[in-house]
Amino acid sequence: MWAPGRVNLIGEHIDYHGLAVLPMALERRVEVKFRPQADRRIVARSTSYGRREFAWSQPLTPVAAGDWENYLRAAAQAIAGKWGALDGIDASITSDLPAAAGLSSSSALLVAFTLALLAANGRGATFQELMEILPDGEQFVGTRGGGMDHAAALVSKAGCATLVEFAPLAARHIPVPRDWRFLVAHSLQTAEKSGPAREEYNRRRAAGDTALARLGLRRYADALEIAPAAAAKLAEGPERDSFLHTTSEALRVRAAVSAMERDDGEAFGRLLLASHASLRDRLRVSCAALDRLVEAAMESGALGARLTGAGFGGCAVILCRSRDAAQVRRGLIERFYADRGEFDQGRHLIDAVPGAGALHP
Ligand code: GLA
Repeated sequence: MWAPGRVNLIGEHIDYHGLAVLPMALERRVEVKFRPQADRRIVARSTSYGRREFAWSQPLTPVAAGDWENYLRAAAQAIAGKWGALDGIDASITSDLPAAAGLSSSSALLVAFTLALLAANGRGATFQELMEILPDGEQFVGTRGGGMDHAAALVSKAGCATLVEFAPLAARHIPVPRDWRFLVAHSLQTAEKSGPAREEYNRRRAAGDTALARLGLRRYADALEIAPAAAAKLAEGPERDSFLHTTSEALRVRAAVSAMERDDGEAFGRLLLASHASLRDRLRVSCAALDRLVEAAMESGALGARLTGAGFGGCAVILCRSRDAAQVRRGLIERFYADRGEFDQGRHLIDAVPGAGALHP
């Protein structure tokens, strides 16, 4: 079984508020080859992270924070919560997705491992069922994330971005215009989701929730039309900033879908830049390297760029015309990567070709 990484084109830090987002899957993936076990033991080997073994007891508890075994445990626990503990697997795991880069390698591992455990036990599961268990499963690792990464890893379609809606759950495929190219460029600052960035991430989510509650609203979807007037009732500070980011980003997603549908790359590019500015100035999840990367992309001929994923490091997503892609790539190398010794083109500057999800191969 396998699951792809994803790049989020737009709609950042809003999935956990139930608002629609626009990711696409990458052609890079985590792959789990396995043999079913006749008992409850789960064994996994990864070329990069070593070997882990544990018994599928119930309930499972996390091991040390940051240990990759937690994702394996999260998969087993997510399944057990709905279907009970099943038989284990002996698995070997490979990946061509860079870790801690905002490309969702951890969710890809969680999704692929969950699908492998289910397949080994002869169980199928629908998109709906998987979305009931996977985002909560990831909270086992300590990040109160949303469902974007799992949805993108499951139901993306080659050649398309996916508009993922959460209330109710739905996925709509939007073909990426032929002339558009997305690049994913690493800031060379890593953002360990299970490490310190986790606290910051959870704080953004809590600030957004508190702002909504202060306004007496139950769902962000009800706040979009009244956002400017409502924001004026909030005191200046992180709660109001989160509220303004969340509501404006949701409107940018709508505008971005329409720009993609009418093949308006300039408008899409401007929305990417506005999203980055909001993430930088309101939500404050950017960093100097990401800001510089976005600038360098624009100086190199991109139509737009912004940080993608949780932020605090990781990657930027960059849109350009296909005829400009080589020039943008060269410009980024000259302007951003030239004096950064650890740069490795294959890992850090990726052509993001829209790939399929695990359920739509
Ligand atoms: C992480 C989470 C996602 C989403 C993004 C920010 O990648 O896993 O659910 O919240 O951050 O948009």
